[in-house]
Amino acid sequence: MANDCEMNSMKMKKTVLIATALLLASSTAFAGKMAMPADAPVSYEAECASCHMAYPPALLSQQSWKNVMSGLSKHFGTDASLDPKTQTEITNWLVKNATTRQKYSETAPENRITKTSWFIRKHDEVRPDVWKRASIKSPANCSACHTDAAKGNFSENNIKIPAK
Ligand code: HEC
Ligand code: HEC
Repeated sequence: MANDCEMNSMKMKKTVLIATALLLASSTAFAGKMAMPADAPVSYEAECASCHMAYPPALLSQQSWKNVMSGLSKHFGTDASLDPKTQTEITNWLVKNATTRQKYSETAPENRITKTSWFIRKHDEVRPDVWKRASIKSPANCSACHTDAAKGNFSENNIKIPAK
C-alpha cells in the first residue's frame, strides 16, 4: 500500500499535469483566434469579399496590407481597383487592425497570407493533393476547411477538411 508521502507526490504530479494541459489548451485556442473586428467598414465586405472571403485583418502585418492595397489594379490576375475614398477607408482600417503579434508580423511574400512562414508551418500536415480538391481549390480558400473563418476563428476545433 502506498504511504502518505507517495500519495502526496502522486497528487502533486497529477496537478502539474492538469495545469500544463490547461495552459497548452488555452495557448492553442489563442493561436487560432484572429477575430474580425466589429468596426469593419461596410465597404470591406462589399469590395473585398466578392471573390474570396473577407480576410480578418490580423492575418497580415501593416506593411503587407499597405502592399496589398497599393496594388489593387493588378491583384492576383484580376483588377480589384477602388475609388480613392474607398481605398483610403479600407487601407486605414486594415492597417489599424493588422496583427500586433510578432509571430504573424513578417512581410508576406507575394502579398499572400498563404506564403508566410507561419502559414506554411501550421499547414505542413495538409498533403499537396488535398489543396487541389474541387471544393478547396486553393490554400487561400480558408473557409473551405475552417468552418468559422469568416469570424476569424481558425482553432483546430473548427476545422473540417472536405473529402472531395
Ligand atoms: C475581382 C476579384 C477580387 C476582388 C474584388 C478582391 N480580390 Fe483579393 N484575391 C483575388 C484572387 C483571384 C486572389 C488569389 C486567390 C487564390 O490564390 O486562390 C486574391 C487573393 C487575395 C489575398 C491573398 C490570399 C492568399 O493567398 O494569402 C489577399 C490578402 C487579398 N486577396 C485581399 C483582398 C482585399 C483586401 C480586397 C479588397 C480591397 C480584395 N482582395 C478584393 C480576387 C479578388
Ligand atoms: C485544406 C484545408 C485548409 C485550408 C484551405 C486552410 N487551412 Fe488553416 N489549417 C488547416 C489544418 C488541418 C490546420 C492544422 C490544425 C492543427 O493541427 O492544429 C490548420 C491550422 C491553421 C491555423 C493554426 C490554428 C491554431 O490553433 O494554431 C491558422 C491560424 C490557420 N490554419 C489559418 C488559415 C487561413 C488564414 C487560411 C486561408 C488563408 C487557411 N488556414 C486555410 C486546414 C486548412
